[in-house]
Amino acid sequence: MSEKLEKARTYEAKEEQKIAEELRPLFHLTPRCGWMNDPNGFSIYKGKYHLFYQYYPYETVWGPMHWGHAESEDLITWKYLPCAIAPDEEYDGAGCFSGSAIEMEDGKQLLVYTGVRKEEDEDGHIREIQTQCVAVGDGINYEKYGNNPVIEADALPEGAGRFDFRDPKVWKENGKYYIVVGNKTEDKDGQILQFESEDGIKWTFDKVVIKNNHRFGVMWECPDYFPLDGKQLLLTSPQDMLPEELEFHNGNGTLCVIGSLNENGDFCEENCQAIDYGIDYYAPQTILTADGRRVMIGWMQNWDTCGIRRDDFPWFGQMSIPREISLHNNKLIQKPVREIENYYGKRISRQNVLISDSASLSSIEGRCIDMTVNVRSKDADLSYKKFEIRFADNGKAYSTIEYDPEQNIVKIDRKHSGSRRAIVHQRRCRVEGNKGEITLRLILDRYSMELFINGGEQVMSMGIYTDIKAEGISFKAVGELLMDVTMYELEKKN
Ligand code: FRU
Repeated sequence: MSEKLEKARTYEAKEEQKIAEELRPLFHLTPRCGWMNDPNGFSIYKGKYHLFYQYYPYETVWGPMHWGHAESEDLITWKYLPCAIAPDEEYDGAGCFSGSAIEMEDGKQLLVYTGVRKEEDEDGHIREIQTQCVAVGDGINYEKYGNNPVIEADALPEGAGRFDFRDPKVWKENGKYYIVVGNKTEDKDGQILQFESEDGIKWTFDKVVIKNNHRFGVMWECPDYFPLDGKQLLLTSPQDMLPEELEFHNGNGTLCVIGSLNENGDFCEENCQAIDYGIDYYAPQTILTADGRRVMIGWMQNWDTCGIRRDDFPWFGQMSIPREISLHNNKLIQKPVREIENYYGKRISRQNVLISDSASLSSIEGRCIDMTVNVRSKDADLSYKKFEIRFADNGKAYSTIEYDPEQNIVKIDRKHSGSRRAIVHQRRCRVEGNKGEITLRLILDRYSMELFINGGEQVMSMGIYTDIKAEGISFKAVGELLMDVTMYELEKKN
C-alpha cells in the first residue's frame, strides 16, 4: 500500500471517532471525515451495495482527490470501508477524479476513474491533463493497473479536447465493457464519448453519444447512460448553465436527456429536462438493483453553494437519498427507495384538516421524518392563494416550502435557516396544475430537505444547517384549504 493511502486510512479511522453521531444525518452518507463530492463507483459487488465518493479526508474543503468508500445492504444504512484509492501515482498525483465500478467475471471489482496530472507547456503554464485509469480489487483493497492510464489523449476523436476528459461510467452489455466519458471539445462545448473494451482494461474509442451543440452549459460532467422503461436515458451535469425559465438554473446544473436507440444503436434525443429542481444536487449515478429497479444517488450539494457550511462541522458534503427512477409520459419520476419504509417509527396521520391561517398540529414535528401532505381546494373554485409548510423552525430560524396554486409554482426557501452567506437560498419550480390539489412528500434528515412533488414528477433538494433542536413544523394558508398529512418518524434500527 502506498504511503499516501496508508496515511489517509490511518487518519480517517482516527478522525471518525471524533465526530459525534448527531452531527451527521441519520442515513444520508457523509464523508468519513473532511470533504465529499460526487458519488463514484455506485455498484453492487458480491451482493452488497458499494458507494465510493470524491474525498479529501484532511480538510472540509476540496483537495487532491481520494476515493472514500462505504457499503450497504439496503441503501439506507452505510458502513464505512477504508479509503479505496489515493492520488499516489505520477499519472493521478493531482487527483483520482470521478468514475465508476463493476463486478468482473473473475469476481474482482473493477474501478474506472480519471487520473489527473499536472503538465507544464512550452510557455511555462501548468495545465491539468485528464486520462482514464483502472484499478482492480476485492471490495476493500485495490491495485492500480501497472500500465495506467488506459485511455489517453491519443485515443480521442477529432475535435475532442484533451484537458476536460473525465468521469467514466462503466457497464457491461453482450459480454463487452463500455464507458461513457464527459468531454469538452476544442471549441468549448460538452459532449459524451463512448469507449469499448473486451476486458475492462484495454479500451478503444467507439462513438460520440451526444453533443451539446451549445445548448446546456459548457463542459458536461459525470455522465450516465442506460435503458429505462423502453427508452434510453443520458444523465449529465453541465457546468456554466444559463437559466431557462424555471427548468434550468444558472451555474452547475443537472440534465436528463430522454431518447431512444435507433437500429445502429445511436442515441436519438426526444426530451430534455432538469433532474433536480432544488438547490443542492449534482453528479448523480445509477445502479440496477437485483430486483430490476434503477436507483440514482447524487451529491446533495452544488459547486455554486459550497459557501453554505458550518464551521463547527468536521465534514462537508452529503449524498442524497437513493431514488428509484422511472418514466411517465416521457418525463422522469423519482421516489425515495422503498427501503426507507423499514426505518419508519411513530406514524401520525390527520385527514381533512381545514387550514385557514396558520396551524401547528400536535406531534407533527421533527428533523428526521418522512411526511406526505396533500392539500386541495375546499370548493370547486380555488379557495386559497397560497399554502406554506414551515419546518426546522425554532421561532427564529426556519425554512419553507410554498405553493402558489394560481401560478402552479413551488418555492423552497432557506434564507432564514441560519445561513450567514449571500448564496442561493431560494428556488422555484413549475409544477403540473391540478385545480389547487398538490401532494408534497418531504424527507428531512437533520441537515437536508428533499421534496418529492406529485409522486416524484419533480424533486427539489437542499441542505440546511439549522440548529438540530429546531424541530417545529407548521402549515399556513392564504384563504382556506383542506389538508391530509401522514408523517413517519425515521429511526435507525440496531
Ligand atoms: C464534478 C467534478 C467531476 C470531477 C470531480 C472532481 O463535481 O468536477 O467532473 O471528476 O468533480 O472532484
